Amino acid sequence: MEYMYNTTICLLLLTQFLILFAEISAKVPAIIVFGDSSVDAGNNNQIPTIARSNFQPYGRDFKGGKPTGRFSNGRITTDFIAEAFGLKPIIPAYLDPSYKISDFATGVTFASAGTGYDNATSSVLSVIPLWKELEYYKEYQKKLRNYLGESEANKRISEALHIMSLGTNDFLENYYSLPGGRQSQFSVTSYEDYLIGIARSFINSLYGLGARKISLGGLPPMGCLPLERATNIMGGNGCREKYNNVSVEFNNKLKKLTVELNKELSGIKLVFSNPYNVLLHIIRKPTLYGFEVTSVACCATGIFEMGYACNRNNLFTCTDANKYVFWDAFHPTQKTNSIVSNYVVKKVLAEFL
Ligand SMILES: *[C@@H]1O[C@H](CO)[C@@H](O)[C@H](O)[C@H]1NC(C)=O
Ligand SMILES: *[C@@H]1O[C@H](CO)[C@@H](O)[C@H](O)[C@H]1NC(C)=O
Repeated sequence: MEYMYNTTICLLLLTQFLILFAEISAKVPAIIVFGDSSVDAGNNNQIPTIARSNFQPYGRDFKGGKPTGRFSNGRITTDFIAEAFGLKPIIPAYLDPSYKISDFATGVTFASAGTGYDNATSSVLSVIPLWKELEYYKEYQKKLRNYLGESEANKRISEALHIMSLGTNDFLENYYSLPGGRQSQFSVTSYEDYLIGIARSFINSLYGLGARKISLGGLPPMGCLPLERATNIMGGNGCREKYNNVSVEFNNKLKKLTVELNKELSGIKLVFSNPYNVLLHIIRKPTLYGFEVTSVACCATGIFEMGYACNRNNLFTCTDANKYVFWDAFHPTQKTNSIVSNYVVKKVLAEFL
């Protein structure tokens, strides 16, 4: 009897200890996201733009088959990251009226499909510019202070992981698509430097608002997106080396920026999360990951469709998206998102876990 009693006490103490330990070790209480379609969970549903995906077959492998506005058949990388951090399985969109500050307190995304570092990029499809994402973040901080109280909110902000994922649209939707625009003002290298300047001041602003843990995301191999391969007719529809080279060059500059800002801003922990190599490896060696198709996407013909062109009436859409690296002509499948986020969590974000 006494023995059992003692065992119970021991178990109770052990449980208490484990709960305490879990609280201490859960060092990231929230994930706060800025960026483009790679991390938009439905903000664009609430603004007048054609950069949308809140209709089927988008979301067909999401919980309940719901087309939330994520540009994929299921979850996106930041959802998987939030789950890996033990927070929750999805990160809600700030403008989605079905969520409240109590939901956003552990994670929120301000991202908008079609946006970029450059104001001129967000203008192309009338989406939310990066500076406006920051304004929404300031509004969010006010709501968080009302909800948690001043000191608890400040603590939450300084311990939260801030994720930035954008840049592809600055090159593909803006620079290379509109020859009369930025191309007439900048060489590609000076345009990269212009964007790096914006990234630098954005991170400085986040720091000024209390953020201390920040992940700066790199560019994917842009030349391997199905849309870019489709137009690479001279190159036999292979990856466009020129665009991949721009990704590599820009990523090197982002990396250098993180080294500089870690020295300049005391107490900041800024990391560079680079999806380039893991994605290129998946594209070059798809069978190692269980994929069968890399050059075209699952939705519709897989060559050029995204947004409204990727719709439920298209008979060509594949039946098993898990065999495809890309869901639409510009965005990875849920399975690819899961592999890339696992990789980034293990290689880079583990230091925050
Ligand atoms: C982008 O637009 C906002 C709002 O007009 C402005 O405050 C900001 O300076 C612009 N950014 C750049 C880099 O020009
Ligand atoms: C891309 O970079 C590689 C390695 O630096 C170089 O050999 C190649 O010529 C570049 N290709 C293009 C199209 O710029």
